[in-house]
Amino acid sequence: MEISTQPPRGTSDILPGQSEHWQRLESLAKDHLQRAGYKEIRTPTFEHTELFKRGVGETTDIVSKEMYTFSDKSDRSLTLRPEGTAGCVRAFLNAGLHRQSPPVKLWYQGPMYRYERPQTGRQRQFHQLGIEAFGSQGPLIDVEVIVVAHDFLKALGIEDFEVQLNSLGDQACRPAYRELLREKLRSRLDKLCADCKDRFERNPLRMLDCKVPTCQEQYKDIPSAIEHLCDDCQTHWQKLIELVEAQGIKPVINPRMVRGLDYYTRTAFEFVAKDKRLGTQSSIGGGGRYDKLVEMFGGPATPAVGWAFGVDRLLMLLSDTTASTLPAFVVSSNAEKALGIATDLRRAGITTELDFPGQGQLPRNFSKQMQQANKQQAAFVVILGDDELAKGEATIKDMKDGSQKVVSQSELASVLGIELQRK
Ligand code: HAM
Repeated sequence: MEISTQPPRGTSDILPGQSEHWQRLESLAKDHLQRAGYKEIRTPTFEHTELFKRGVGETTDIVSKEMYTFSDKSDRSLTLRPEGTAGCVRAFLNAGLHRQSPPVKLWYQGPMYRYERPQTGRQRQFHQLGIEAFGSQGPLIDVEVIVVAHDFLKALGIEDFEVQLNSLGDQACRPAYRELLREKLRSRLDKLCADCKDRFERNPLRMLDCKVPTCQEQYKDIPSAIEHLCDDCQTHWQKLIELVEAQGIKPVINPRMVRGLDYYTRTAFEFVAKDKRLGTQSSIGGGGRYDKLVEMFGGPATPAVGWAFGVDRLLMLLSDTTASTLPAFVVSSNAEKALGIATDLRRAGITTELDFPGQGQLPRNFSKQMQQANKQQAAFVVILGDDELAKGEATIKDMKDGSQKVVSQSELASVLGIELQRK
């Protein structure tokens, strides 16, 4: 069988031209999150299957339909991570981070895997950037994580999005609300889609964010979880809204937003961008509070809250920002000398390119090399013609305005450095 050069369905290569955008986002994220006190964690891309089954929840679509699960050669059941929170909680406990003084604030990024039907904005291998804050109970830290996410989007240049908020209650009030839903919906079951019928027994809350219009029609008069919060959850919810607004963010209350993972308690939120480039996948990020997960994994009672953004989706919103230009390109009739000068410039910290002949080809002439420099959007071209070489000089050409300046080769790096700073 011939080897296919197509990547597997639902995956894609990140190519030169795109990888620069990824690098910009990653470096901005790192600065932004570290400034707010979040420290990086890197966990394995696969974990024991049980971790996700228990953590994310058996009734979720992720666990019941979308996991890449396999047995290794020792017959262990392993799963490619469909999300980052469960792995973070496991690592938090395994490393004894719960013994550090709270809050413990972590960030992560990397590929995640879900066997979903690929479409615009939805892949089988996608990338998340996320944060998790462990050990703080009150709504203040919920607000910190929401503000950090909000300001990150703004720093990226993404302006047109909503912050949707909801509260899902906790162990004290959710069971009664679940029963109320069953009571109200039992007689309407025959009008609902197969997924909703299935969720009725297993997880009735998830019925509420079904995308099928005829189901939504049936849920119109169904009271929301917010109307059935216990006193503690109600106090948390009220304060949360007050504090989010005090930070200059106007949230959109969405009582139908339930989220696709079972670990949430109280706060749930989603960042939604209504942008055609995302197709139907308007949720660019989401998260919430998960106060019981650490305990479920065998740790001490530890409240926690966090979010994850889909990096692929964020980049779809940024795809029309211009690619960064190349600072310098060396053009010369003497390829060896060109390489020497490029090396000097690189050692001085200036990103520099030069031409190399292709397979079985002679070195390109001057004008072809200039075309090459143009193609790579060089800000400056360093010209080493016969004249310059004979005198130990170089000509710096500003590719924007066409102006030229002759300098000695020994001064080249410092003069070019100053010119680049002026740009
Ligand atoms: P999630 O909502 O499942 O939450 O995923 C977060 C984000 O990942 C989504 O908003 C979306 O942008 C992106 N995403 C999810 N699936 C795909 C896909 N198939 N293709 C492209 N992008 C996708 C979580 O994963 C939680 N762990 C977030 C969290 C952290 N909650 C608390 N802490």
